[in-house]
Amino acid sequence: MTRATAASVDVSKTAPGKRIVVTGAAGFIGSHITRTLLDAGHQVVGIDHCQGHPAEITERNLQPNMDSELFSLIRGDLADISLEPQLEGADTVFHVAARPGVRSSWGAEFSSYATSNIVATHLLMEAAARSGVRRVVVSSSSSVYGGAPDGAVTEEDLPTPLSPYGVTKLAAEQLALAHARCTPSGPTVVALRYFTVYGPRQRGDMLISRLIESALSGKPFTVLGDGKQRRDLTFVADIVRANLLAMEADAEAEVLNIGTGVTTSVLEVADLVGDIVGRPVSLNFAQAQVGEARETHADVSHAKDLIGYQPTIDLRTGLARQVESAIRSRAAVMSATSNGPQAR
Ligand SMILES: NC(=O)c1ccc[n+]([C@@H]2O[C@H](COP(=O)([O-])OP(=O)(O)OC[C@H]3O[C@@H](n4cnc5c(N)ncnc54)[C@H](O)[C@@H]3O)[C@@H](O)[C@H]2O)c1
Repeated sequence: MTRATAASVDVSKTAPGKRIVVTGAAGFIGSHITRTLLDAGHQVVGIDHCQGHPAEITERNLQPNMDSELFSLIRGDLADISLEPQLEGADTVFHVAARPGVRSSWGAEFSSYATSNIVATHLLMEAAARSGVRRVVVSSSSSVYGGAPDGAVTEEDLPTPLSPYGVTKLAAEQLALAHARCTPSGPTVVALRYFTVYGPRQRGDMLISRLIESALSGKPFTVLGDGKQRRDLTFVADIVRANLLAMEADAEAEVLNIGTGVTTSVLEVADLVGDIVGRPVSLNFAQAQVGEARETHADVSHAKDLIGYQPTIDLRTGLARQVESAIRSRAAVMSATSNGPQAR
């Protein structure tokens, strides 16, 4: 991989008024990136097939952005729709869309992972080159590494994914980088390998969302494995910031780890969530999931050198924000239910 010159970018100095495309804009991370771009005065075209979540979750994710006159949403599958008209005139594409999740990537659903994560990325890169896009920032994943047996992983470590999902994420980032290296007139690429992302609107199938739900509802939480597996947990605002920094970075074809460099076990996270909510999470244990890494742990020095990235939100602060958001969502659902037809 190429190493570009070190450069630190002040996100607040990103010039407003650019046309920017965000794929996966109706998802957890895509909706946060979109909000920040709109706040900075950019015109954002979101592309999402809106099938990644139940309809009410998709609407919840879209809702903070739909009121903005600067936002438009194309509801369509990246692998099916004509992309050039959407990309025409765009400065940057944040390619966030993917089919996430390790467990269901085994077996019959693999073809949908291959289509959404690999084929769609190839089509997007071709269309971006034809449309004159300057930069594509790709959402990649720590799952490409397969784990961190010897401490924090660097971008120089050999990727050895442990799941079909991880393989498709590796293929997607490498495809985008190959396009960048071999299409001189095409966009430059920065691929960001996120280490477990959490925060408001986190997907309901993810560890921290489920722990918070258990703490709030009092229902037991099932730990897969012994709970001593460790994760490098990154608050979503730091992921958004990394994306904006990557948009302006001096780079042709780069991969960067975006994590915190700190790891926490599932049991420790459960304790913290219980402490913040004020009710301990009651734990059950079941067999570990196939394809889950024992430990994920990011060395973020390359991201620090190249784009000036530093995580800013510690775990307790980030968890407290996610708990607060979950409490608000539950209250909104309860109020909608009590005002519903049965109450009349
Ligand atoms: N959440 C994490 O902890 C995490 C960690 C590492 C990497 N990532 C990566 O970050 C990205 C976003 O993850 P997320 O947690 O926000 O997931 P998400 O499911 O909330 O968002 C993904 C969005 O992409 C859309 N999408 C998927 N395939 C599509 C297609 N073919 N055409 C159009 N839209 C499509 C979905 O409808 C969904 O709204 C993904 O690329 C994921 O692999 C996430």
